[in-house]
Amino acid sequence: MSLQDVIERVPPYAKRHGLRATLGRLWLAARRSLYGGKLVLFYCDLSGVPETSVLDVGHGQVERKRAEAELTPVDRQQIVGAWNPQVARKLIDQRFARGASLWLFKIEDAVAAYGWTLEGGTMETHFFPMGNEDVHLFDFFVMPQYRGRGINPALVRHILAHLAAERKGRAFIEAAEWNAAQLSSLRKTPFLRLGCARLLHAFGKPLVIWSRQKTLSEPGNSLVLRTVPGSETVARSEGGNFQRSSHKQ
Ligand SMILES: CC(C)(COP(=O)(O)OP(=O)(O)OC[C@H]1O[C@@H](n2cnc3c(N)ncnc32)[C@H](O)[C@@H]1OP(=O)(O)O)[C@@H](O)C(=O)NCCC(=O)NCCS
Repeated sequence: MSLQDVIERVPPYAKRHGLRATLGRLWLAARRSLYGGKLVLFYCDLSGVPETSVLDVGHGQVERKRAEAELTPVDRQQIVGAWNPQVARKLIDQRFARGASLWLFKIEDAVAAYGWTLEGGTMETHFFPMGNEDVHLFDFFVMPQYRGRGINPALVRHILAHLAAERKGRAFIEAAEWNAAQLSSLRKTPFLRLGCARLLHAFGKPLVIWSRQKTLSEPGNSLVLRTVPGSETVARSEGGNFQRSSHKQ
């Protein structure tokens, strides 16, 4: 999160939740930053995902929205109300403008969860470039009252099955290293762990530092990172050797 994000988000949060909650939230953010902003990256080869999916939790149904006009006022209110409304509105506009899809998991017409997908790219600078057939899954959220019921993994599995029917690329998602709930949730999906890395910026260019933790532990997995000339990435391999490659978002 950039300093500008913090400046934008803190006052509305304090207004809604009070000073004590805001200080608690800032303390939590500081503790999380001690994890060094490390993300666990996951991937899924869509060609290996069955193209049919049965939603196996509760009485939910999934709706895919490709434009803001497809959202009902109630949908929109529930989504922006779950977070900082001002920032959420801006992000919704930017994401639809880039061609992203919003997937809603609804229970009796109420939004219980949602997540976004973007094909062929990422909204922000990423650890590596996407191919045209690749899809990035990001910003998944389950309303607090529905957590722990397997809704997020069901939504992710449903999205992967849907995407597998459309394309044969790869899907990517990531979770903060501290986010035990999301890490546990993704273990219930076809996503496989790719590795753990930190994304920094140096002199206006992305710098990716891969963790020494084991990567691609599942036998037979392989992933070729596609590179586009333009910017520089340093990747650290398991053995501690540095590989230099170039890419830009
Ligand atoms: C991470 C998140 C999407 C998981 O969704 P979910 O539908 O609750 O996922 P699951 O049902 O698989 O539960 C995952 C774990 O969260 C735990 N959990 C976290 N908060 C919980 C709560 N309030 N109630 C019950 N369980 C909770 C569950 O016990 C479960 O652990 P287990 O797999 O060991 O049983 C959801 O907690 C969430 O929206 N968190 C805030 C936003 C976020 O972190 N998004 C992910 C990054 S983009």
